Amino acid sequence: MVTIDNAWFSKLQYAKITKMRFYIKPNIFEDSILLNLKNEIETFFQAKLVTVESEANVVFVLDKSIYPGYLVKKMNQEKVIILAAETVSLLQGFYYYLLNLINNDFNDVRQTPNQAIRMIDHWDNFDGTIERGYAGRSIFYENNQFLDDYNRVKMYARMLASVGINYIALNNVNVHHEETFLISAKHLAKVKFLADIFGKFGIKVMLSVNFASPIRFGDLKTADPLDEQVQQWWQTRANLIYDLIPDFGGFLVKADSEGEPGPFAYGRDHAQGANMLARALAPHHGIVIWRTFVYNAHQDWRDRTTDRARAAYDNFMALDGKFDDNVTLQIKFGPIDFQTREPVQPLFGALEKTNQIIEFQVTQEYTGHQIDINYLLQQWYEVLHFDTKHGQPELLLKDVPQTKSPVPQNSGVAAVGNVGRDDNWTGNKLAQANLYGFGRIAWDADLTPEQILSEWLQLTFGKLEHLDVIKEIMLSSNATYEAYTAPLGVGFMVTPQNHYGPSIDGYEFDRWGTYHFADRNGLGVDRTVKTGTGYTRQYADANYAKYEDLTTCPDELLLFFHHVDYTHVLHDGKTVIQHIYDTHFEGVEKVKQYLALWPQLEDELAPIDYQNVLEHLNRQLKNAVEWRDQMNTFFYRMSGIPDNQERKIYA
Ligand code: GCU
Repeated sequence: MVTIDNAWFSKLQYAKITKMRFYIKPNIFEDSILLNLKNEIETFFQAKLVTVESEANVVFVLDKSIYPGYLVKKMNQEKVIILAAETVSLLQGFYYYLLNLINNDFNDVRQTPNQAIRMIDHWDNFDGTIERGYAGRSIFYENNQFLDDYNRVKMYARMLASVGINYIALNNVNVHHEETFLISAKHLAKVKFLADIFGKFGIKVMLSVNFASPIRFGDLKTADPLDEQVQQWWQTRANLIYDLIPDFGGFLVKADSEGEPGPFAYGRDHAQGANMLARALAPHHGIVIWRTFVYNAHQDWRDRTTDRARAAYDNFMALDGKFDDNVTLQIKFGPIDFQTREPVQPLFGALEKTNQIIEFQVTQEYTGHQIDINYLLQQWYEVLHFDTKHGQPELLLKDVPQTKSPVPQNSGVAAVGNVGRDDNWTGNKLAQANLYGFGRIAWDADLTPEQILSEWLQLTFGKLEHLDVIKEIMLSSNATYEAYTAPLGVGFMVTPQNHYGPSIDGYEFDRWGTYHFADRNGLGVDRTVKTGTGYTRQYADANYAKYEDLTTCPDELLLFFHHVDYTHVLHDGKTVIQHIYDTHFEGVEKVKQYLALWPQLEDELAPIDYQNVLEHLNRQLKNAVEWRDQMNTFFYRMSGIPDNQERKIYA
């Protein structure tokens, strides 16, 4: 029997909870979520549900005034009350309370989520593979069938619900042949099974759909959104889905991007495409999440005027206000593609009349494949606190979905998930922290990476003597990965297709290119208005001015916005070339340091976890060394400038 890792439901917690007594006020409507709450208390935590309020340690109370979120009120040392307007919030309050129980000095907390939609997108394919998955095969599918491993799915639903996730997309945004039929009667019964499991945990299920479905099903010759038969087709489809799954969330759509079909084939725009689907879902209160990752505009490396970074803004800004109320644009946090370092997408703050979701990647596609340790909360925290300069006195990215979406409840954050069928869910045990942390930061963007890490460590490992060791490793891991892979905002110097390990020219002449343009004098992409692609102008005035000017552009994004000489001097006084050498040498030293520190945890962690991280750290070191040597050699050969510390560069 395979034992699946308990993640942040560490056994340590159970003992405490098992002794507790819970009471649910009888006036609360018994929906499936409340029944599940009871089941969680009695079956999962093996605690007692009592029928007399005075005997209970925890009392659940329905209170219409506590909306959204919940209130946990400490009555005395022995008793707390959890109040909320909805059963889903009572369930979330329950987990919040349990997960914090370890801190005995629990005080009153009123928790309201920053974001209405807090979503995990699965890029799982029906054949069991996962696009950009690094932790084994899909937990839902194998061989074009549903796995029916509902125990694992239930554990997963619990994990997500415990950090407040409330939406999940079950299949890859690239909807291949087989997945197109997930919305057919043949498969919907099984989708319903999954939807019921997630539904009990307060999580709505969505499916990624193929825009050309009416054709692929063999029913129509067109998928033109303005064609009445097409509209009728989707309406009939939506009715069928909702007959079976009344709380179905809706559709997630990648259209006219990287080969996926969309409205462009019929001369229609994204709004016409999205609204057509949205109107089919509207009678059932479903939503359409329409992605802005639209990159069919191929580039040619010879032509320096085209710029992939411009694509989302160029495609969507003019459509602001044209989308229906139940359409939400899902916008990647940066203009390129979940790189280790890129600026914030300029659509944020600029869009005024369109519902918005910020999209992140928990799965480590460009950030180390869950081999390299990379605690991504550092990046997300920084990104979410970026000032778009579209507000007075400020408009931080974290506040954009709520303040700039006409229907705030249809806005929020989403992330591509990172779990698979590996026993510990995420391949590298420490990558669980990113999933936990995404939920936490989606709920409260002001929680710092340190706070979230402390919570996760406590819940996962209990009290650790060498807590500082693991903290030091994880809190510096994001900067370390950046140091050896992405100097000064240059991205994409990765192995084509798989995106792990160095390949400096791998994408340099590619049609999807984002290029580094390195030559013997310098490198970087000129995105200025003055001499480059003009991308800087997509930002609000203050940010435009900051990025456009070489002297005010932040160093960490310098090469994203400017092409400079290797001898260009950074704000810290170093030249660009010396910075490249230094960060690559330092990055490797950091990983060596992690490897030297890790053994201190040997006696404290379960052997399986200790070995798991150790093994991954050894692989990370190999990767970092390869990056260091290839990058340093490449730029030494290009520039002919030696390292001022005369370290080993393979010339
Ligand atoms: C990236 C990724 C693809 C994915 C795409 C998307 O380009 O490499 O695998 O399909 O993003 O977000 O749609």
